[in-house]
Amino acid sequence: MKGVTVFMGSPHKGGATHRAARKFLDDLESFGDVEGEIVVLSDYGIGVCRGCKVCFERGEERCPLKDDRDALIAKITNSDGVVFASPNYSFQVSAVMKIFLDRLGFLFHRPCFYGKTATSISVYGIYGGSKIVKYLDFCGGGLGFNVVKGCAINTLEPMTDEALAKMEKKLAKLSRRFHARLLRPTDATPSLFQLMAFRMGRTGIKQQLGEDKRDYVYYRDHGWFDSDHYYPTRLGPFKKVAGAIFDWAAGRIYRPREG
Ligand SMILES: Cc1cc2nc3c(=O)[nH]c(=O)nc-3n(C[C@H](O)[C@H](O)[C@H](O)COP(=O)(O)O)c2cc1C
Repeated sequence: MKGVTVFMGSPHKGGATHRAARKFLDDLESFGDVEGEIVVLSDYGIGVCRGCKVCFERGEERCPLKDDRDALIAKITNSDGVVFASPNYSFQVSAVMKIFLDRLGFLFHRPCFYGKTATSISVYGIYGGSKIVKYLDFCGGGLGFNVVKGCAINTLEPMTDEALAKMEKKLAKLSRRFHARLLRPTDATPSLFQLMAFRMGRTGIKQQLGEDKRDYVYYRDHGWFDSDHYYPTRLGPFKKVAGAIFDWAAGRIYRPREG
């Protein structure tokens, strides 16, 4: 059985995003080997990030906010796949979805969801759904997931039968693609962009931070200062050279810290 959690970012329970999430999971569960859960983010206590960067620097366990962040992270850890589902509010994800993503901020520095699959659903009235899908998919990639391109659902009211049928078709298609990805082993080779992001980032951390910083210790202890990527991989000759160039370029951009 594969476990899939939808993080539902509309505070409007039973609204369009909730219904889209339910329909997606019903389709997914009809394959017979998936068990889904919808997590309504607004039912959880998640405080607004204070921007103190304690999670980056001294460790996430020292975050001054004591709330449900870790319970939500545990839900990701215990899932094989996740869906970020958000309505479009003022041309962006809902506030609660953004608060949730901000609280995962330290995990963009230390991606740990390698091997899991993510996708997104954005629900919009008139304009802006696709940009939100792009944003949520980008976040999924940054957190280390295998990303299945999400979909934007138009729910301009009153919804015609045609619009309803279109929505159902889009969600059924997404569930098929997501299911197929869920069952496939993870691609062992990072894209050029992923390679660049890792190599530039790790060089910055190595050159500018020290043992007093959690990011540095995490990378050191995971062997990430010397590895090709943050998960085991065999790079072909082109990506090996590209990786070396990224290391060299980042070494010139980030000056070693003094003292
Ligand atoms: C505060 C607010 C802001 C919104 N802003 C936009 C917007 O910028 N673009 C858009 O296309 N729809 C916008 N909408 C419409 C919603 O995206 C649409 O009604 C959606 O179906 C709401 O989903 P929900 O019922 O799950 O919350 C907005 C709705 C609300 C409540």
